[in-house]
Amino acid sequence: MSRPALPDDTELSDRIRTLDLESKVRLLTGANVWRLPAEPRLGLSAVTMSDGPQGVRGTGEVPGATGLLAPAPSALAATWDTGLAKRLGTLFATEARRKDVDVVLGPVVNLQRTPVAGRHFEYFSEDPLLTGTLAAALVRGLQSRGVGACLKHFVANDSETDRTRYRSRLDERTLREVYLAPFEQVLAEAEPWSVMAAYSGVDDGTESAPMTENARLLREVLKEEWGFSGPVVSDWAATRSTVASAVGGLDLVMPGPDPLWGEPLVAAVQAGEVDERLIDDKVLRLLRLARHTGRLGEPGQSPAPPAAPAGPGEEEFRLLREVAARGMVLLRNEADLLPLASDGIRSVALIGPNAVAPYLQGGGSAFVPAVRTVSFEDGLRAALSEDVRLSVHRGGDARLRPPFLSGALLIDPDTGTAGVRADHLDAHGNRVGGEIRPSGDWSGYTAFGPATRRVVLRTVLTLTEPGTHRLEIGCVGRYTVTVDGEEVLSGDDDRGVELILDSTHNNPPLRGIDLEVGPQPRRIALGIGLTVVEPGGYDPFVTAQLRHAPPGSTPYEEIAEAAAAAQAADVAVVVVGTNEEVESEGWDRTGLDLPGHQNDLVRKVLAANPRTIVVVNAGAPVLLPWADEAPALLWAWLPGQEAGHAMADVLLGRTEPSGRLPWTLPARAEDVPVPDARPRDGVVDYSEGVHIGHRAWEGAGLVPAFPFGHGLGWTRWTYESVTLSPSPVSAILPSPAGGDGLNLTVELTNTGPREGREVVQVYLEPPHDGPDRPVRLLAGFATVEAAPGARVTAEVHVPARAFQIWDVEASAWRTPPGRYRLHVGRSSRDPHLAAEVTVDDGRLHTAG
Ligand code: BGC
Repeated sequence: MSRPALPDDTELSDRIRTLDLESKVRLLTGANVWRLPAEPRLGLSAVTMSDGPQGVRGTGEVPGATGLLAPAPSALAATWDTGLAKRLGTLFATEARRKDVDVVLGPVVNLQRTPVAGRHFEYFSEDPLLTGTLAAALVRGLQSRGVGACLKHFVANDSETDRTRYRSRLDERTLREVYLAPFEQVLAEAEPWSVMAAYSGVDDGTESAPMTENARLLREVLKEEWGFSGPVVSDWAATRSTVASAVGGLDLVMPGPDPLWGEPLVAAVQAGEVDERLIDDKVLRLLRLARHTGRLGEPGQSPAPPAAPAGPGEEEFRLLREVAARGMVLLRNEADLLPLASDGIRSVALIGPNAVAPYLQGGGSAFVPAVRTVSFEDGLRAALSEDVRLSVHRGGDARLRPPFLSGALLIDPDTGTAGVRADHLDAHGNRVGGEIRPSGDWSGYTAFGPATRRVVLRTVLTLTEPGTHRLEIGCVGRYTVTVDGEEVLSGDDDRGVELILDSTHNNPPLRGIDLEVGPQPRRIALGIGLTVVEPGGYDPFVTAQLRHAPPGSTPYEEIAEAAAAAQAADVAVVVVGTNEEVESEGWDRTGLDLPGHQNDLVRKVLAANPRTIVVVNAGAPVLLPWADEAPALLWAWLPGQEAGHAMADVLLGRTEPSGRLPWTLPARAEDVPVPDARPRDGVVDYSEGVHIGHRAWEGAGLVPAFPFGHGLGWTRWTYESVTLSPSPVSAILPSPAGGDGLNLTVELTNTGPREGREVVQVYLEPPHDGPDRPVRLLAGFATVEAAPGARVTAEVHVPARAFQIWDVEASAWRTPPGRYRLHVGRSSRDPHLAAEVTVDDGRLHTAG
């Protein structure tokens, strides 16, 4: 059956003309948190959006719905493999269709400007080219199945502290060459169907405005200069104005309902403050998105909804496992400890806080309730033969916050049953509902009716163990806390939606109370009165966390026990890392240390067993002060649902860990080029300019623990030769559109014992006497595979843009003349071959 022809833009404009102003403006604000409005007169069904980028969370309309949980984007970036990224994009599309989702809110192409950025795990890399290349491949995969991408967060929204308020101050070259670069690349290579405007603002010296109002970047650059034809969607609740945002280039306000557009925007058009043609353009962009995603039919009709595929199933689990395993980065492998020869092992001690509680995905809007999860223990157990003894030891707690009060210590004062009582009260203080839950976790509690204005929690806590107990209580908004009837804490924060946007609804600041318990048990009556927070667009909620540290909770006994287990085993696998208290949307880290006593744990285990493999389960850099002593060191990222299988595949040699670091791993905190993400007086100053990540490390001549691009595998490679083409290279560099650049043909041989995969990396060294540029920058890369002894050819494309700088005076790209060296190798610090080209008159020549 042939598909009916889709309407072209002229036809869409004709349709738009049939609507009055009010009807058009209505379409430009979300109907609810995830859906846009429908308009049968246009043939428009509701377009549905959902996060992104570790899977597709879904709209939450189906209670208990789960889904595929992919490795975090930085893990995908570590594969440096566009083929894999594209396949993951198609998997996301299938998953989106299962959940009736048309647009996935991702990928994120903000950059890892600082290792402490809270959403570091959601970003691909500290490098613009690696980011842009992988994101483009992912978008191509996603959109090839009729599901739209929403490229986010446009632009320079690279940290979280005060994220809805700060302005990023950066000069125009830095903006163009670094932070806009991945957006521009993805738009050029993959044409994403929508773009999200960030919460933060940009001050580029020409204009300073929040990104939802930034006419210079949204209208002039994104739409006019780059020709982006889809809608610019606000980040959730990021819109703050009517006229400035409508004129500034924003097209869709999300989520809805939101009063900022609607009637005030109609009035602004009628008052001549906003041109109605701008409104028509916004609707046209929305209709283009609907056309792409199958949500646009004939006027007066609704299109048939896209089919929902069955599943998820084994084939998808396999892909997630492959991405997770291949993205793992083997940082060290002394004496080829890995892969383990499974026949020689009789016992394995699996140790570490993250061995017991793997950190599979980062916190915040990217969170996906997983359809299944394979823990490191389950994965190893399934992979090891049955006669191998596997023991598991936590080796101390690594949480920053004590655990939630256990329901077993709590009693509802009214009924005497276990738990905490919640009474829901209306505006007059009358009880309109309630429940009892056996938990101290009341974070983001929404299970009350619309009349509820206050939620009052009451419980009696019984402490028996003598000593000092610490009670940590965290609430948000307006609240009071009483202990035995006496008020001990209160809050008066009326920021509403900000409590969601900065994640305090899940991560409230904790306030501690010490409670002394003598030989007799102590009973404490706790009362918490919470005013319901009304965050517009989102569900009303309250948050209270009751946490408890019993006396004398130190990890040393557990560490000693773990070290003893390591000593008794043939092999020790220590899994250390971060957790969702550390890496999350909504806040930034304040340091790079592993939480808790994990460094002590690793050192003790390394001393106990020379056959120790250390696995780091974290998204962003953490300092590993013992790294030089670890015989085998594997970075496992936030590996998603198939974590355990993927780790076992690597440890036992079934899959080569062919990952390469997409960022620089510092050895010392004081070396980090941008150690702090916090705004000063509302400004995040990008004073390092174009020197981001490895470029800054090279510029400062500092040696990191492991450089950008580093990663070992199961084999060794000899780089034989490099040739440039076209040859002679008189290729024109560059056309205003970016030109073609040049190609490098790299010959290399697998000189090691096993089949392997290599990431061939090309770094460009600009002329030293030219404008201020990075010492070296990543200019191209390609992955190849070869059997032992086999020679293989890598074709690496270096885009003309790599040579160029943004000429601020001329408002155009320009290639500075001079001699450029191209270094070909295994990482930013491990060059094996070099070539040289010269540029004069804007043309590129091979040297000699
Ligand atoms: C995040 C976005 C996300 C949106 C919807 C925002 O707080 O910044 O990345 O897509 O929420 O969940």
